[in-house]
Amino acid sequence: KRLILIGPPGSGKGTQSPLIKDEYCLCHLATGDMLRAAVAAKTPLGVKAKEAMDKGELVSDDLVVGIIDEAMKKPSCQKGFILDGFPRTVVQAQKLDEMLEKKGTKVDKVLNFAIDDAILEERITGRWIHPSSGRSYHTKFAPPKAPGVDDVTGEPLIQRKDDTAEVLNSRLEAFHRQTEPVIDYYSKKGIVANLHAEKPPKEVTAEVQKVLS
Ligand code: AP5
Ligand code: ZN
Ligand code: ZN
Repeated sequence: KRLILIGPPGSGKGTQSPLIKDEYCLCHLATGDMLRAAVAAKTPLGVKAKEAMDKGELVSDDLVVGIIDEAMKKPSCQKGFILDGFPRTVVQAQKLDEMLEKKGTKVDKVLNFAIDDAILEERITGRWIHPSSGRSYHTKFAPPKAPGVDDVTGEPLIQRKDDTAEVLNSRLEAFHRQTEPVIDYYSKKGIVANLHAEKPPKEVTAEVQKVLS
């Protein structure tokens, strides 16, 4: 399947992705994870992206379309994919459509992680991530087995630089202004499935499975 996950910061996209990936054997491309890796490695892309990311603003369409275009060439992404955090502007959505049209395919489903803004601050400020795998934890909702340590590798967990209440406000503003129109864009194509993203993770997973089955 060819899937897009859309939702505000902290809505659970990254949490649900691995579960969907394991079940349907797809490639998982998260532009946020890829950009953070580029920032950490101080690549030219990372240097360009860092300022916008730290402020909670979107990185330019050209940069993210470029990384997606490149990443989608991977053999594992030919039969299906999960895009997490892309497209986030209508321009990105149009570019993606063009990219897929050239291959004679299209997006099957857009999972809309619908949730009230008010719930998100607690989720964002309590999040801890394992940078190399992208796995995320939450001090209250999804604690790791040992505090501050990844369950699988035993490596240390970190907090994202943009996971503060202030930067969250900018990220939410960007979501409402620039990304919600993308949901309308796909609604017109009749492929959006709305999830109740405020529910506990397992219930959200069950909704996802229902939509995809
Ligand atoms: P990105 O990394 O995509 O961040 P985001 O969209 O803000 O989303 P998050 O990763 O914060 O949230 P999530 O939905 O994955 O939540 P999670 O599952 O971890 O983007 C970062 C930045 O990169 C952007 O601001 C921008 O600058 C740039 N960027 C990226 N893509 C771009 C693009 N296409 N164009 C331009 N710029 C781009 O969950 C959060 C926490 O809640 C976790 O701790 C988790 O354990 C917990 N949790 C999850 N689900 C539940 C639940 N159901 N109940 C209780 N707790 C839960
Ligand atoms: Zn995420
Ligand atoms: Zn809105």
